[in-house]
Amino acid sequence: VFEYQKYRRYFAQCGGSLEELVSEELAELGAEDCKAGYRGVHFRAEPEALYRISYSTRLSSRILAPLISFDCHSDQYLYRTAAKMEWESLLSAQESFLIDAKVSDSAIAHSRFAAQRLKDAIADRFREREGRRPSVDRLAPDLRIHLRIHRNRALISADLSGGALHRRGYRLDPVGAPLQETLAAAIIHISGWKGERPLYDPFCGSGTLMAEALMAVANIAPSSLRMGERPPMARIPGFDAGLWDRLRREIDAEALPLDARLVAGSDIDQKAVRAARKNLARLPGGPRPYIKRQDFRDIGSLENRCIVSNPPYGHRLGEREQVETLYKEFGDFLKQRCTGSTAWLLCGDTGLVKKLGLRPKRRIPMFNGPLECRLVELDLY
Ligand SMILES: C[S@@+](CC[C@H](N)C(=O)[O-])C[C@H]1O[C@@H](n2cnc3c(N)ncnc32)[C@H](O)[C@@H]1O
Repeated sequence: VFEYQKYRRYFAQCGGSLEELVSEELAELGAEDCKAGYRGVHFRAEPEALYRISYSTRLSSRILAPLISFDCHSDQYLYRTAAKMEWESLLSAQESFLIDAKVSDSAIAHSRFAAQRLKDAIADRFREREGRRPSVDRLAPDLRIHLRIHRNRALISADLSGGALHRRGYRLDPVGAPLQETLAAAIIHISGWKGERPLYDPFCGSGTLMAEALMAVANIAPSSLRMGERPPMARIPGFDAGLWDRLRREIDAEALPLDARLVAGSDIDQKAVRAARKNLARLPGGPRPYIKRQDFRDIGSLENRCIVSNPPYGHRLGEREQVETLYKEFGDFLKQRCTGSTAWLLCGDTGLVKKLGLRPKRRIPMFNGPLECRLVELDLY
């Protein structure tokens, strides 16, 4: 028996600084005993809540089911313990797997070596019993396995999400520096936007903020484009296909028709505009919000809107000055032409925030991958 079967405990991974939000989201979806940890949340869930979470979480990056945890002071011990696990209940010799390993402060010093030993254990077990072994597939493995060893304590988990949940399935055309969907969803969540006034993104890039806003307001399950009758979770022992099906139908039935007029956006880059249009058309119902190629300086006005945006960062060499000027001019635009609006901006750093020349009502540190950014709220009168 695996640990998740005994304790019904799971782990939702998430980006840095989102732990508390994810914890709240999971509790709303039926998780119990949520405990925010480093880049994720531990929780307990019965199958129904677990399925609901897997299908509906907008903010977590992946859901992991712990298989076994043990003290691990050597690679031989890792090998022996892993070789005793019932891998054949998760995987067949014809299928493929991929191991994601991270070790820290432990006798086994290298993640790659740990992954190698775990791989050997799985392969040898299959070879001994069946004469053949599952292969390793880096791109589309049937099973993703997580190995964490911290201070000589090892944890092996199965990924129930089949890869990162931020890949919702609508953004096949990323351009420039797109936001992760989970981070975009978090920004929309924090903004509290519920569709009461139109949302506008003047630096829309590939349209991630607009897409997440539409999906959230229309109650569209974020995994509905990527998880069908047989979700990645279907391979783990104890999966209840009937329950999954009923729940998925129930959740899908709660979706509202998309009103594409609720969001609009623009970007100076024609490629970005094209990508954003394509991506948004992939949402269920294929809404076509108004997306225009336009420099923000040419937008007449944005009054009584919820402006949500992620202006350029200017991290590349030689761009800083230009981006500082852009922030200053965008600040002027907000002051002069956006009466009655609220703006939520994910800004590269506090120095850029200052260039806006507006006093933020709130400043929230947020990680965009490794970059520490600031999400600021500006009330415009
Ligand atoms: C950080 S990206 C936004 C990424 C977007 N949130 C996404 O998820 O794809 C910044 C965007 O600002 C656009 N941009 C730069 N200068 C602009 C300007 N003057 N007016 C409008 N858009 C501009 C860039 O083309 C780029 O797509």
